[in-house]
Amino acid sequence: MENILDNYKTVDTNDVKVWFEAAKASNFPKDGGACIKYKNKQIAVFNFAREGKWYACQNLCPHKMEMVLSRGMIGDDKGIPKVACPLHKKTFSLENGENLNGDMDAIATYPVKIENDVVYVGFTE
Ligand code: FES
Repeated sequence: MENILDNYKTVDTNDVKVWFEAAKASNFPKDGGACIKYKNKQIAVFNFAREGKWYACQNLCPHKMEMVLSRGMIGDDKGIPKVACPLHKKTFSLENGENLNGDMDAIATYPVKIENDVVYVGFTE
């Protein structure tokens, strides 16, 4: 059986081959997230407005394999920007995907850039 987690692999900015035009920046809630779709992937994009930063990660929470992370609360864990899954509050670093309050595998993260008020997410294919 195909493992849906295999669809999601962290992309380093240096490896980006496709900058996918996601949406206008103003479509994303301030200090919140929204889900975008790219090919067979659901990606959670976060507008971390109070830090002036943007992040993207897989929308799939690996705990119960639910597509929910874009609806999670974002915050800070000792200086590390994080998202908390809305279901059972597992938290993940938005910088490298690390599970900050447990020992789950890291989630995949993706580079984000903003140009002319448009949000782009980077992929390798
Ligand atoms: S499904 Fe995300 S913490 Fe349980």
